[in-house]
Amino acid sequence: MRKPIIAGNWKMNKTPEEAKNLVTELGPLVKDAKCEVVVCVPFVDLVETKKALRGTKIKLGAQNVHWAEYGAFTGEISATMLKELKVDYVIIGHSERRQYFGETDQTVNAKIKAALSKDLKVIVCVGETLEQYEAEETITVVSKQTIEAFKDISKDELKKIVIAYEPIWAIGTGKTASPTDAEETISVIRKTIKRLYNTAASEAIRIQYGGSMNPKNASELMAMPSIDGGLIGGASLNAQDFAKVVNY
Ligand code: 13P
Repeated sequence: MRKPIIAGNWKMNKTPEEAKNLVTELGPLVKDAKCEVVVCVPFVDLVETKKALRGTKIKLGAQNVHWAEYGAFTGEISATMLKELKVDYVIIGHSERRQYFGETDQTVNAKIKAALSKDLKVIVCVGETLEQYEAEETITVVSKQTIEAFKDISKDELKKIVIAYEPIWAIGTGKTASPTDAEETISVIRKTIKRLYNTAASEAIRIQYGGSMNPKNASELMAMPSIDGGLIGGASLNAQDFAKVVNY
């Protein structure tokens, strides 16, 4: 049985003070959650958020990491730095990073390896653009992204990775993939993992859906057998809304 995992991706929102307030409100609201709960916050919020999360079961996540251990990479953050702040998870390969910051399947793979080498857990994102969706290329696109992301990752390391399927046309648009469409694509991702590893690995890996998931549609999406959680953008910026998704 896979334990569902619901993660908030705050993106570039909330100052440290606002972060503290949000998680302080969130803690009691999700104390009986049956799923794993994560908040992925901006780098500058990590310290305050970690402090405010004390005594809760909520895990802490970052939204990016560099592939190198250290060095002349102005403005970047390493896995060692995140580990020292007791970060649990890091999102890698979000479509916004691929779209605006030139991330490729190759850098995504390198970043996953860097994170795993410092014992961070990973949420790796895959998903198709609207154009690819309309051209019925979804399966080809997400299969390729998955294969490239997992290059030279061992079966053992796979246990530390969660996949988030986020159709780009559903992100921040209020348009959600229908539960059956999301289920179908996620099943294909799972089959890809089966081909790359084996049946046991494909049955164990958790795959989230992301893209306009909110208190209204969460239970319907979570009811699908292959959907093991959500990566929540907009609805994670408000404690009440995020708690409703978590307590779907
Ligand atoms: P929204 O929930 O705002 O659509 O964002 C989804 C997302 O990109 C989470 O990573």
